[in-house]
Amino acid sequence: MNLLHLDSSILGPSSVSRALSSHVVEQLLNRFPHLRLTYRDLAAEPIPHLSGTYLAAAHGAVDAARDAVLAARDAVLLEDLALGETVMKEFLAADIVVIGVAFYNFSISTQLKAWIDRIAIAGKTFRYSESGQLEGLAGNKRVFLAIARGGFYSDGSPSHAMEHAETYLRSAFSFIGVTDLNVIAAEGLKVSGEQRQTAIAQAELRIAQTIAGLAA
Ligand SMILES: Cc1cc2nc3c(=O)[nH]c(=O)nc-3n(C[C@H](O)[C@H](O)[C@H](O)COP(=O)(O)O)c2cc1C
Repeated sequence: MNLLHLDSSILGPSSVSRALSSHVVEQLLNRFPHLRLTYRDLAAEPIPHLSGTYLAAAHGAVDAARDAVLAARDAVLLEDLALGETVMKEFLAADIVVIGVAFYNFSISTQLKAWIDRIAIAGKTFRYSESGQLEGLAGNKRVFLAIARGGFYSDGSPSHAMEHAETYLRSAFSFIGVTDLNVIAAEGLKVSGEQRQTAIAQAELRIAQTIAGLAA
């Protein structure tokens, strides 16, 4: 069984989503010591934004465009293609995916979006049937999202409609077939020191409860 751990916060050691995602991974490894861990820090080693040349070379429908790009032997592009392949392989091989999600400007960090752009690929993680029906191809995974938000956005709060991180990731993972999605969010982290402590403690408790409740 493979465990893929991703972090996406730009705040380094003071990041709450990093602390929470590590907590999830630690508890998972305690519970299931045989898990093989792969770690990717999307902020320390950012994945480039998708480019037209990358798309043409990696997934281009037009063979001529792909061949022309590859013939140019652009070193940066070749490196990007290799990275894209590695990122997809890591995701497809994972049985469990744990993602530290930092809430920035009402959504996910651009670093995490760049990762999503590499794994939401037609023919690999989703496809449309001949009748036009969407089929997610990555449904064999359990995904944990450890989300850290400065303000309050959960159900019932006045800013709920401005939450585009959890809602976006729920859509993205559902689109590719993931149904086993576990969300642990700590929020109000910037409201006060006391709220920060309470939110982190509550999230850690929920992590422990969620992992204790998993089937062996
Ligand atoms: C660039 C940036 C943008 C942010 N935007 C928001 C925001 O739109 N709403 C909010 O409630 N908090 C916002 N925050 C606060 C973060 O959600 C908070 O610091 C959270 O802990 C981020 O996760 P991290 O600690 O893992 O980086 C922002 C913080 C940064 C650095």
